[in-house]
Amino acid sequence: MIPPASPEHSVIVTYLETLAELPWETMSEETVDLKKACQILNRDHHGLDQVKKRILEYLAVRKLKPDGQGAILCLSGPPGVGKTSLGKSIAESLGREFIRISAGGLSDEYEIRGHRRTYIGSMPGRVIQELRRAGTRNPVILLDEVDKIGADFRGDPASALLELLDPNQNSTFVDRYLDVPFDLSQVLFIATANQLDPIPAPLLDRMEVTSLPGYTETEKLNIAKKYLTTKQREAHGLKKSQIKWTDHALETLIEHYTREAGVRNLEREIGAVTRGIAASIVEGDIESSKVTPKAIEKRLGPKQYERDAKVSESLPGVVNGLAYTAVGGDVLHIEALAYPGSGRIKLTGQLGYVMKESVEAAHSLVRSRAKALGIKKRAFREQDIHVHVPAGAIPKDGPSAGIAMFTALASLLSDRPVRHDVALTGEVTLRGLALPIGCLKEKTIAALRAGVKTVLIPAGNAKDIPDLPEEVRERLEIVPVRTVDEILKHALE
Ligand SMILES: Nc1ncnc2c1ncn2[C@@H]1O[C@H](COP(=O)(O)OP(=O)(O)OP(=O)(O)O)[C@@H](O)[C@H]1O
Ligand SMILES: [Mg+2]
Repeated sequence: MIPPASPEHSVIVTYLETLAELPWETMSEETVDLKKACQILNRDHHGLDQVKKRILEYLAVRKLKPDGQGAILCLSGPPGVGKTSLGKSIAESLGREFIRISAGGLSDEYEIRGHRRTYIGSMPGRVIQELRRAGTRNPVILLDEVDKIGADFRGDPASALLELLDPNQNSTFVDRYLDVPFDLSQVLFIATANQLDPIPAPLLDRMEVTSLPGYTETEKLNIAKKYLTTKQREAHGLKKSQIKWTDHALETLIEHYTREAGVRNLEREIGAVTRGIAASIVEGDIESSKVTPKAIEKRLGPKQYERDAKVSESLPGVVNGLAYTAVGGDVLHIEALAYPGSGRIKLTGQLGYVMKESVEAAHSLVRSRAKALGIKKRAFREQDIHVHVPAGAIPKDGPSAGIAMFTALASLLSDRPVRHDVALTGEVTLRGLALPIGCLKEKTIAALRAGVKTVLIPAGNAKDIPDLPEEVRERLEIVPVRTVDEILKHALE
């Protein structure tokens, strides 16, 4: 006789079902075929040669040592550069199931470790749930946006994630709901992140970070031509003969309708134009369409952005600085102004701590070299200085503005204009040495986009020059500098 269903009864039934349906032994047969993997990566993504090479090496090692416990691969870079979609391609090239878990959506420990079976509606953690759904125990799990975890997370995200991700711990992962260990060591975890700073150190330590720096305009054009237009055309059910994009139209979209390091908005705008054309074709207005810049203006309205511009004329106290923000590299205009006062400095423009300190250091440095720079002592005693970094309400920080700040102040007080086609990046010491910085790739891509001709970088970064995109190396004059004196020689008119 079937006993009457009680709440306890249904809890036990759900538990047993979960246990029965978990893929304790089932595995997708892994086919590590490097040629095929390479084909799939190239089919879905343009460029990104270094990242692809890194991924293929990773796969090659897996082929040689299938049960080897490699580090967790972490793809980091600004939005829309293809991190998530690379993860998908990796799963496909391995012939494994693909699971995406958004780390930003995890709000407490239970979602990782599972609830204890003490009440109705308790559940296993996300990973166990997803494994049950996927039906294999060796899928690729993409832990998307690991940098977004944490802010309002209840419990300790780092230790919970470590238990899950660390190859030394996760072969006996105990979900509190299951209460028996489940072997996660065959799962291939890949993490993605926009920024590395917010990732807890013990976690970052176990990851192997590969960075995707964002695309130059030429790369974007190629991606749009070869991938995005076709993808959108197919998604809207149009035939090849029905829509043709001119290069000029795509350039207009890139330059005037999007401002981003990746290509997500570009894809969206291409989609919007394609959709409009599809509608016109269905309504019978046209049979096919050639997309020109004019057609874009008609369908999307007036231009949204002007080119991320450099400073337009050479003035004392006005400098192009280079910064790295969450959306990629950016050109920051730094403006310094002097007026009668008593030697105070005022800073505005949403500057963070580090940047404020950079200004102070730069100010001391200029003061100490006043004589050599031809600045009168009076200039410090009888003037206030105001340093402003406009560009909207974006908080700006990062230890790479020192050189630019120094140049702005030195130029202002010695009344010599700064070349408007020069951009600078680097930190400076009180002895006047230029210190190396990170993210040179992103910064130089931004400089090129803004129409800068010469970029001054700290000599310590000269080693990174060969890694810069070819276009950047060809079109920008990149000058490594050692000291502030060299900087002024190049930057001042
Ligand atoms: N190199 C590329 N070649 C072809 N398509 C690309 C390339 N890079 C990105 N894309 C396309 O751009 C879109 C956005 O990429 P994706 O969603 O992977 O970005 P993401 O790096 O994960 O961004 P986020 O950090 O915002 O999550 C996808 O449709 C992807 O296919
Ligand atoms: Mg993503």
